[in-house]
Amino acid sequence: MAFLPQFLDDIRAHLALNEIAARHVRLTRQGNEFKGLCPFHNEKTPSFTINEDKGFFHCFGCGAHGDIFGFVMRTEGLNFIEAVERLATECGLAIPARSQEEHAKAELVRTLYELNEVASSWFERCLNNQVGKSARTYLAERGLDNETSRHFRLGFAPDRGNPLLEFLRNKRVEDKLSLASGLIRQSEDGRSAYDFFRGRIMFPITDARGRVIAFGGRSIGESKAKYINSPETELFRKGHALYNVADARGPALQQNSLIVAEGYMDVIALHRAGFHNSVAPLGTALTEHQIKQLWRLAPEPLLCFDGDEAGQHAARRAAERALPQLGAGLSLRFAFLPVGQDPDSLLANGSSKDLARALGSPVSLIDFLWSWEIEVHPLDTPERRAALRQRLNQLTTQITDRTIREGYFADFKKKFGDRFALSQRSTSSGARNKRKTFQAIGLRAHARGHDRSGDPNHRERVLVAILLGHPELLAEVREDFSRIEIRNVQLEQLRTALLEISTSESQIDYQAARTHLAERGHGEVIAKLFDRTEWNQTMIEPSVRPETDRNEALFAWRETLAIHCNQSETPDPC
Ligand code: UTP
Ligand code: MN
Repeated sequence: MAFLPQFLDDIRAHLALNEIAARHVRLTRQGNEFKGLCPFHNEKTPSFTINEDKGFFHCFGCGAHGDIFGFVMRTEGLNFIEAVERLATECGLAIPARSQEEHAKAELVRTLYELNEVASSWFERCLNNQVGKSARTYLAERGLDNETSRHFRLGFAPDRGNPLLEFLRNKRVEDKLSLASGLIRQSEDGRSAYDFFRGRIMFPITDARGRVIAFGGRSIGESKAKYINSPETELFRKGHALYNVADARGPALQQNSLIVAEGYMDVIALHRAGFHNSVAPLGTALTEHQIKQLWRLAPEPLLCFDGDEAGQHAARRAAERALPQLGAGLSLRFAFLPVGQDPDSLLANGSSKDLARALGSPVSLIDFLWSWEIEVHPLDTPERRAALRQRLNQLTTQITDRTIREGYFADFKKKFGDRFALSQRSTSSGARNKRKTFQAIGLRAHARGHDRSGDPNHRERVLVAILLGHPELLAEVREDFSRIEIRNVQLEQLRTALLEISTSESQIDYQAARTHLAERGHGEVIAKLFDRTEWNQTMIEPSVRPETDRNEALFAWRETLAIHCNQSETPDPC
């Protein structure tokens, strides 16, 4: 919907920018201008100004600039149309419908909002009466209390018959309208209608203003599809909607931070853990539109993904979508959870502290891209390194903002130079064994871009983790492993136990070792050893992972050992 310029001028004539702004900023008047502390960045001396004659605000500190609509968009996290509607309502102006057709459409949209609202209350009632008993048990088993269910307006769609259709017919809602809402579907032959959601927990999805526009439904029964969403309707475009955006908006704007999770239950878990600034897309990768929406709420939304391969790929897709849209101050950050975990399962198995910790060391967009590129392909020949450069350049050219593009270019160049220069040093300094590679594999520089071979604690972890993942290597390196210096007490105990359970007569594999060691009380330290966040990295170095090829693991181990002995202060055991 486009607005006529006169209509926008009408609104401007009715409302003074300084009055709207005064709700967020303490303003002082200086002639034609108003001055105050900028609501869009942190500052101690006022550089935010309003020129009421021109109807513009401008901040000399952060460059924020715009008119009354822009101000409301930014402070309330609305899009342009929503901002215009908000201000029109405020000054009592009816939003003009311009043609018959548009008028009819506006009417349909209005009734669909109403219908969704009616349905949402109906689902809620179903959850709370007899028919919702199994659904209530299901939610309780997942740790959801009534208050949380009420807050998110969770509901239940019964699994027998077409109770919603009947309910709507009783309320004299025309089938045509029910069908347009997506809640009721038509059979293929077009002769009968049926309830779309059946036997599902219902999650109402709202727009930024909190109006219900669609539903997500989670099966609690046999159904093949775990989650289904309403089909697209006049109100609902999947790639535009974000779950919980209306409620997350206030907290996000206030805290200047926003968390983006993968699913409904994750948003709810985050909320329960005190992160009220969380949203999720609806089962698809983030679209460009959604990314723009995120940026209206916070400059660097934190995307939080499962640490497994699928999570890495989802992160990568989001990163690529964001590149062309990056702007001054606008970026993404990434938090990877332990493999196989989402915020919901993390909270279910632990506490909100665990969740906070998992979110506590996010990776910047550039660091994520860099570590992705150096970790997915081997870089052990000049040709492969040239290909890396090429890939980095391709990524960089996606960025449309010139300053940022140049910044990425320079940073990638520096990372590239540092990495290969450093790796050469560390190999030659640790060169007990004469095999040369380009990098100290087990000690690679990671997301944060530093070579960690100088950190004895890190070396100890690498040395223990590799052998835990590959106990069969103990046949070859038992002697060295039993003699190296390990200062960390837990790791030292783990080493002893590992040596004990894998004697030279009876060899065991990783799974068996893990089970035995967990039984002996080493479960927690092992979990930490294979938990990416404990390493402060985007992903665990391939050579440290149990699934790595035996020879690569052995090579990485020997190399790390060489550096460890070279740098340890104690007498050389190697
Ligand atoms: P997940 O498969 O990660 O489910 O899907 P989940 O969020 O952990 O759900 P629980 O904990 O098993 O209940 C993440 C999101 O992907 C969409 C949903 O939006 C879900 O929240 N999804 C998932 C679908 O649309 N369809 C599906 O079949 C599965
Ligand atoms: Mn889950």
